[in-house]
Amino acid sequence: MDKLQYFKSEQIADGSYKIEYAFSDKLPGSVYCYLVTGEKYALLIDTMFGFGDLKTYCETLTDKPVKVVNTHAHADHFGGNYHFDSCYMHYRDIQFFLEVPDMKKELFADGLRNYLGDEHKDLVDENDGNFADVHNLKVFPINDGDVFDLGDRQLEVFEVGGHTPGSVILIDSKTRIAYSGDVCNGNTLLDLETCLPVSVYLQNLIRLKGIQDRFDMMYGGHEIFDSTIIDEGIETTRRVVEGTDDKYIAKGIRGTDTYYAAAKREGAYERADGKRFNMTYLPDRINGTDDRRQVI
Ligand SMILES: [Fe+2]
Repeated sequence: MDKLQYFKSEQIADGSYKIEYAFSDKLPGSVYCYLVTGEKYALLIDTMFGFGDLKTYCETLTDKPVKVVNTHAHADHFGGNYHFDSCYMHYRDIQFFLEVPDMKKELFADGLRNYLGDEHKDLVDENDGNFADVHNLKVFPINDGDVFDLGDRQLEVFEVGGHTPGSVILIDSKTRIAYSGDVCNGNTLLDLETCLPVSVYLQNLIRLKGIQDRFDMMYGGHEIFDSTIIDEGIETTRRVVEGTDDKYIAKGIRGTDTYYAAAKREGAYERADGKRFNMTYLPDRINGTDDRRQVI
């Protein structure tokens, strides 16, 4: 191999693609983004870490202009934004995006070299167009109920705050797919200081349940589930709010001990009881209110 292939994709529905890194087996976990193509334009939902020229790759899948929307402002979902001129994200997450420190493309390249290891690291070249410096780009705010009208299909923005205050899913009623970011999955992180209180997240999940009949599948940033994961999410999250969850302590994503709502199989990712949803949380951030003011 003398040239690194950065991306691979799979068609998941009519005009809809799941994109991931071609070397995803070298990364610590799965990360996905999605391209939904329409008559007027194509919508790229999240952009992963920022390895590889994702804009040029999208142009191999569509000849329409590509708009970028982020399900939320975490670096494994917006890292590739810097290959584009603009992006859309929920107004409550924009501040996190703008707080990203200036990082040069060399830093992204070094990060990838670390993942790839000795065998392939020499294929990474920060000057071959596959890396971009962090820089200012236009950020357009979106809000609950907004619609991306691609011409022959519309994707609706639905707010499910919790993991971040401005986490959203995008519902494509044409394919009955919800592109769900990190809102509800097998490792839903609510143990970051920037997360909403668990009780607020529960209310948002219950609101999501109200439109559950509009989609069949939830294509997330790291995992894919059918829509019944929402029912497990509500049941498990409610136990946390009521104080009857398993309070299972294990290493979280940052390598330190954290609380999981549901006990896991010893040393494993999966829940001990075979269900799919799980969440981490901070014991002092269970009950609270949703202060929707922006503090600038
Ligand atoms: Fe996230």
